[in-house]
Amino acid sequence: MNETILTRRNLLGTAVAGIVAAAAGTAEAQERQRRREGGARSQGDPFERRERIVPSFGNAQFYKDGKFDENAAKDAVIALCRYHRYPVFPDFKEKLWVSDYGIGKFTEVGLAAIMVANNRREGSSYMLQELFLLPNQMLPEHWHVKGGADKDGPQKDEGWFVRYGRSYVIGEGEPNLPPEIAVPASHGDVTVKHAVVADPGTFVPLGPLGSHHWQFAGKEGVILSEVANYHSNACVRHQNKTANDTFLKGI
Ligand SMILES: [Fe+2]
Repeated sequence: MNETILTRRNLLGTAVAGIVAAAAGTAEAQERQRRREGGARSQGDPFERRERIVPSFGNAQFYKDGKFDENAAKDAVIALCRYHRYPVFPDFKEKLWVSDYGIGKFTEVGLAAIMVANNRREGSSYMLQELFLLPNQMLPEHWHVKGGADKDGPQKDEGWFVRYGRSYVIGEGEPNLPPEIAVPASHGDVTVKHAVVADPGTFVPLGPLGSHHWQFAGKEGVILSEVANYHSNACVRHQNKTANDTFLKGI
């Protein structure tokens, strides 16, 4: 009897082992198939294919007939997001704002942003926006004035929380610009040179209200969240004259 039971057990064991092996084989085959399909998908999507290679860009690709090509700039930002695994939501591109500030060197000086919220009402205001800088791209030096065309708005106070990549956040203080920061000739002189190195998880607040500030992205670019009380384009002033004129003209 025992022998019979053992035999049945053995048979059962052999059958289970066979099922497990078959399942493993199927899983392996499925994985191979998934990879094959993944490869096929990659071939049709240039961003997907190079998502783990630091994206690099040439300035010429952002200009068509001498004009800034916003669509190309937005595609570059999406490539940056995919590289960092930042969630590119369905209407991401429609919500994205990009600018070369009229300087004509988007890879050197520029910005991309999505304004998430910019609200104010009696006694209260808040703002949240996402900022995107390509590798080694400079957010030009600027500051925020009171009043201007937005007489009732508060003077902007702000801070930056880095999510992906690295930013050098520059403001007032002892000059300490590291050698990896090369202020582009296309921007011209800067008046503040105190850098805070900000990696993911770092929050850097603005110095004194109205103080000059700018940023410079690390070699993998940077994606960060900016929080503020309220943002008014009319109250922004840029150190670079072309940037200043372009920005205010766009209001
Ligand atoms: Fe600012």
